[in-house]
Amino acid sequence: MTDRTATVTFSDGSPSIVFPVLPGTIGPDVIDIRALYGKTGKFTYDPGFLSTASCSSAITYIDGDKGELLYRGYPIEELATRSDYLEVCHLLLYGDLPTADQKARFYPLVTRHTMVNEQMQFFLRGFRRDAHPMAVMTGLVGAMSAFYPDSINLQDAHQRDISAIRLIAKMPTLVAMAYKYSVGQPYMYPRNDQSYAANFMRMMFATPCEDYKPNDVLVRAMDRIFILHADHEQNASTSTVRMCASSGTNPFAAIAAGVACLWGPAHGGANEACLNMLYDIQRQGGVAKIGEFIAKAKDKNSSVKLMGFGHRVYKNYDPRAKLMRETCYEVLGELGLGDDPLFKLAMALEKIALEDDYFVSRKLYPNVDYYSGIVQKAIGIPVQLFTAIFALARTVGWIAQLNEMVSDPEYKIGRPRQLYTGATRREVVPLAQRG
Ligand code: SDX
Repeated sequence: MTDRTATVTFSDGSPSIVFPVLPGTIGPDVIDIRALYGKTGKFTYDPGFLSTASCSSAITYIDGDKGELLYRGYPIEELATRSDYLEVCHLLLYGDLPTADQKARFYPLVTRHTMVNEQMQFFLRGFRRDAHPMAVMTGLVGAMSAFYPDSINLQDAHQRDISAIRLIAKMPTLVAMAYKYSVGQPYMYPRNDQSYAANFMRMMFATPCEDYKPNDVLVRAMDRIFILHADHEQNASTSTVRMCASSGTNPFAAIAAGVACLWGPAHGGANEACLNMLYDIQRQGGVAKIGEFIAKAKDKNSSVKLMGFGHRVYKNYDPRAKLMRETCYEVLGELGLGDDPLFKLAMALEKIALEDDYFVSRKLYPNVDYYSGIVQKAIGIPVQLFTAIFALARTVGWIAQLNEMVSDPEYKIGRPRQLYTGATRREVVPLAQRG
């Protein structure tokens, strides 16, 4: 606990209130206002939660000013270059990187749960072929609660662990199925002799007529994309998962809620929106048109935003964007696409924006979504699938955060209050008397 306090005084003469100030291991302190309403009959007011800590967590730490991101204390730069996605899954779920023995148990456990129930394919048939993959994924992930009734009890830690393995293992299969369905190709079954990322790429790009030998550089890039998207503190979709699970619903339903929230262009949908933005600028004339686009992005009267730029927490360069740009160089180099016009356009746009006071004064820098689309497009991933891959990678973070919340003996159902600005009490007027 703490002996540090914060005192709130009221200009209307109400008695002042003293609140404890709680320190984290690193990062901002919090003022513990849980007693505020009981003592004052007043709420705090913080739409968008710019100054609100919704929970305590030991999973991910972000220093937005320094541009620092730690998963369980490990810098993202080290994990992205010295670990792999399943090691990061073990780290996020259980608190540390796996030992050799733990790795020998965890990896096959995931590998052996990559197949989905055969009935799942009939669920897909209900969609049009041109359905957005995130609509399909929202449906499929929610439907998993109907296929795995033996692991839906949120209060049972063992069942939560089984559903965690099932979700991590099956998301690549489901995303690949959503893709194959959209292009009218048969589904490819996962293989147990492939790594996590290679298995996904094979399910995406192999056909019964021709196998797919994943390129090691591209597999490494895909695995790194998974690592970079695995968790990110209390972002909108993670907060959605926590709120959804706080009602006691099953893990699959809570993760489906996270998928739905991530879809938005202000959040995980930004990678798709960013690539479409680059395509639009390219169609209109490329680098020569950047100035015109930037002017629109700065114009309050236009709804245009520089997608892939800005962040609620990062007021410096998103460390994931730096790593994603490095991955761009690696992948484009490996594929002989070093002169990829979209990559060059993205770098030119970034340079011009970072020299423009509008972006500099608002501390708007590239975020994880700015370069991820270019890498995924080079690998052969269709634009509409980018956010589904973000959801695939973030599933482990959502589960880890859900587990942390449910394991906290103090957790309650989330139920914020409001500042009411509507009509005061009034009586119903008979229709004949309504003016
Ligand atoms: C993700 O939270 C997370 O951690 C999310 C995420 C994760 O891993 O989970 O990191 C993933 O969602 C990354 C963000 C992806 N979204 C985008 O790239 C979409 C474009 N970015 C913006 O929509 C915006 O920057 C947000 C939504 C990301 C952040 O919005 P905030 O924190 O609410 O900031 P704001 O909208 O209040 O912006 C502050 C100012 C405003 O101008 P003023 O009112 O001060 O004049 O900056 C402007 C905004 O208009 N601004 C932009 C801009 N982003 C902010 N102007 C032009 N282009 C932009 N991209």
